[in-house]
Amino acid sequence: MNNTFNVPRGTSDILPDAVPLWEALEFLARKICKSYGYREIRTPVYEDVNLFKRSLGATTDVVNKQLLELASAKEDEGYALRPEGTASVMRSYIENSFDKKERLSKFFYIGPMFRGERPQKGRLRQFHQIGVEAISVDEASPFLDAETIALAMHLLREFGVKDPQLKINSLGSKEDKARISDWLRGEFAKHKDKLCVDCRERFERNVFRVLDCKNESCRKVVASVVKDLPLSVPSQEYFSKVQAALTSIKIPFEVSPHLVRGLDYYTHTVFEITAAGRLGSQDAVGAGGRYSTLAFELGGAENIRGIGFALGIERILLALGEAPIELARVDVFIMAMKEEYQPLIFLVLQLLRKAGISADMGFVCGSMKSQMGRADKAGARFALIVGEDEVKNNSIAVKDMQNSTQETVALADIVEHLGKVLSS
Ligand code: HAM
Repeated sequence: MNNTFNVPRGTSDILPDAVPLWEALEFLARKICKSYGYREIRTPVYEDVNLFKRSLGATTDVVNKQLLELASAKEDEGYALRPEGTASVMRSYIENSFDKKERLSKFFYIGPMFRGERPQKGRLRQFHQIGVEAISVDEASPFLDAETIALAMHLLREFGVKDPQLKINSLGSKEDKARISDWLRGEFAKHKDKLCVDCRERFERNVFRVLDCKNESCRKVVASVVKDLPLSVPSQEYFSKVQAALTSIKIPFEVSPHLVRGLDYYTHTVFEITAAGRLGSQDAVGAGGRYSTLAFELGGAENIRGIGFALGIERILLALGEAPIELARVDVFIMAMKEEYQPLIFLVLQLLRKAGISADMGFVCGSMKSQMGRADKAGARFALIVGEDEVKNNSIAVKDMQNSTQETVALADIVEHLGKVLSS
C-alpha cells in the first residue's frame, strides 16, 4: 500500500528554488502598479457562490463546469473558491461604498485562483494572477482603457516576456451585445450543420463563444460570417478612441473581431495578450476588458463601471522558460569543529542576524570539508570557523569564500567586522 501523499491534481508546490523568481515578479508588479496609481486589495479566497454565478454568468464554463464549491457545515451557506478576482473586488467596492468616496478607484491584487479544469500545461486548478481593476463612477474614459492595456504590456515587458502580442476588440454596450447576439444567432442558424457539437449548444446559451471556437469547421463559418461586429455608432467611436490612444503611446495591437472572452461581464473593450515560449495551446498570458453592468448586477449603483485585466503568473513563467537564477541565500555560514562549540556558534549566529546579517550555521557538526560544502551551497560569502585554537584565543577564523583568503578576528569584534566588509 502506498501511504505517501501527492500534491493535488492541477496544483503545484512552489519550491524554495523557485520562490525568488516569484518574489521578483511580485515585487515588480507591486512597484509598477503603484506607479500607475493602483492600490493593493486583498479579498478572501472564497466567496458566496452566487457572487460568481451572478457576475461571471451562470452559463459560462467557469461557473458551470469549473466552480470549486466548498462543502459547508451549514446548509444555507454556499461558498466557492474564487475562480478569478474581478467579482470579489467589485463585491468589496460596493460593500465598502468606494463609489461614495472617490470617482475613480484603482485596485490591484496578487493571489491564487481556483478552477476545476482538466489540468494540462499552463492550465491548472490552482493558479496565480496579478490583476488590476479600475472602477469609476459615471465616466468611462477611452484613455483609461488604453492606460490599463498599457499597464498590462508594461508589466509583461518588465517581467522579461519577449514579444507579447496584443489583440483587442469591442463587444459594444449592453444593448449592442443583445442586438449582436440576435444577429449572430440569425447568421449562424444558416450554417448550424457545420458547427461543432459544443457550438450548437453555445449557439443557444452564449452565441458569442462560437466566435472563438478552435474547431476548424466552426472557424470557417465564423470567418465567412463575421468580418466586423456591427457596433452602434457611439460604441464604435469609443473603440476608435481607445485605438488612437494606444497608437499614440506606441503600443502595437491587432483588432480581432473574433476575440470574445469566457466571462459574461464584459462590454465594450476586451483584450488578450499571448506570448510564445513553452506555452503550447494555452498561450494567453493575460486578458481583460471593460465591464459596465457588473456593479448593477451585484446590487451596486447603475453608474459604476470598470475595466481591468489579470495576468497568469504560471503562464508568464512558462513564457520566460527556465530562468537560471542562482541567488546567494545567506552572507555568512558559521561552523563548529566540535559539537561542544555549537552553543557558542549558536549565540554568534543570533548576534549576526540581530545586526541584519543573513547567516546560517552547520547544525550537523561534520568534517571541515562537508561543512565547507554546505557553506558553499548556501551561497555564503564568508565561512566562519570555530575550532580549538579559536576557542582558546576567543577568536573566529573568517574565510572569504570568493578569494579563499582567511583571517582571524576577535570574537568581540566579529559582528562589527562582518558588517563593515559586507557593506563595503
Ligand atoms: P481570464 O481570461 O479568465 O480573465 O484569466 C486571465 C489570465 O489568467 C489568463 O490569460 C491566464 O493567463 C490565467 N489563467 C486563467 N485560467 C488559468 C488556469 N486554469 N491555469 C493557469 N492560468 C490561468 C479573468 O480572470 C478576468 N478576471 C480578468 C479581468 C480582470 N477582466 C477584467 N478585470
